Amino acid sequence: MTLQFPEKPHGLPHPEYTTPRGVSPLHSVREAGLQYPNYTPFKLPNLEEKPFTDRGLNADPAKARLLNAATDIIHLTPEIGTEIVGLQLAHLTNDQRDDLARLVAERGVVFFRDQQMDVHEQISFGAYFGDLHIHQMAGIIPDLPWVHPIYKDETAVNGRSHQIWHSDVSYEIQPPGLTMLKMDTLPRAGPEGSLAGGDTIWASGYALYESLSPKLRSILETLEAKHSGLEQAEKALRTSGCLRRDPIETIHPVVRTHPVTNWKTLYVNENFTKEIVGLEKRIGDAILDTLYRTIAEGYEFQVRWKWTENAVAIWDNRATFHTGIFDYFPHLRHGLRVAPQAERPYFDPESKTRRESLEK
Ligand SMILES: [Fe+2]
Repeated sequence: MTLQFPEKPHGLPHPEYTTPRGVSPLHSVREAGLQYPNYTPFKLPNLEEKPFTDRGLNADPAKARLLNAATDIIHLTPEIGTEIVGLQLAHLTNDQRDDLARLVAERGVVFFRDQQMDVHEQISFGAYFGDLHIHQMAGIIPDLPWVHPIYKDETAVNGRSHQIWHSDVSYEIQPPGLTMLKMDTLPRAGPEGSLAGGDTIWASGYALYESLSPKLRSILETLEAKHSGLEQAEKALRTSGCLRRDPIETIHPVVRTHPVTNWKTLYVNENFTKEIVGLEKRIGDAILDTLYRTIAEGYEFQVRWKWTENAVAIWDNRATFHTGIFDYFPHLRHGLRVAPQAERPYFDPESKTRRESLEK
């Protein structure tokens, strides 16, 4: 793979440090005597809206260039989640990556096991799909700020507070689309020490949305909601003291249209959506609570993934919700996430639910 990197922001901390090729920064950053993940404060310019074209729009509708190269294609549930066997992401052609973008848009989340891809290749792979998001407050790798380490160990005494259905950083003007997580260190359990714990679950926004009554859907389609990064920012100032951008709140439609599938998906989440615009707070909160409960309890719209070392999940952060399952305290679980930003969420009244579109 030819490595193509985004431009580095100015003022990164620890400029003397470089992550070597082929190793996990989990080890190399600490060996260099630095905190990991790293919370050394530095400032970033606030994000502004930028043009975005989804790579999935160039895909072959049959996704044949990707799927014909796989040795197996395993749909994990009818509604969401597909595992692709026999491919190395680092070796995909651009045509195959475009097909992958469409597959992820359709299936919500796509999995690959045993991926030989170091963090540099992962950044370059993610950057093909959009501008990589740098988190406003999470710990980073000092020289690779586009990577969000997913990290918990014996210090994660409050780790369960992170176990909440969400869509990543939905308060941003252009929240991420295809988001990629590669796990390299997993918890083990029992005397034999087999892998156990730390699964992730995803839920399909398309399926949840079309499960609602037509009358409720027609009301939701008229609504917008406020998504807020303020709580995260306050937490950052309280704990690490590292806040890289001014915290923001953004209004997004409650139902958004996916630009590749043209399907409607539910777009509110318990972590970041704070209120429905223009409704009495108690009524807006009641609607949001009902939707959050529908997401949490819609087991038929969910897929639960058991990680193995070097497995990769790529999910469409626009059309799914997810949460890690925190059942592994005090063990170590570590992975690396890159999150290319997508379009500003919009609702197209001409778009359809997934089922309406497929029945045509
Ligand atoms: Fe997340």
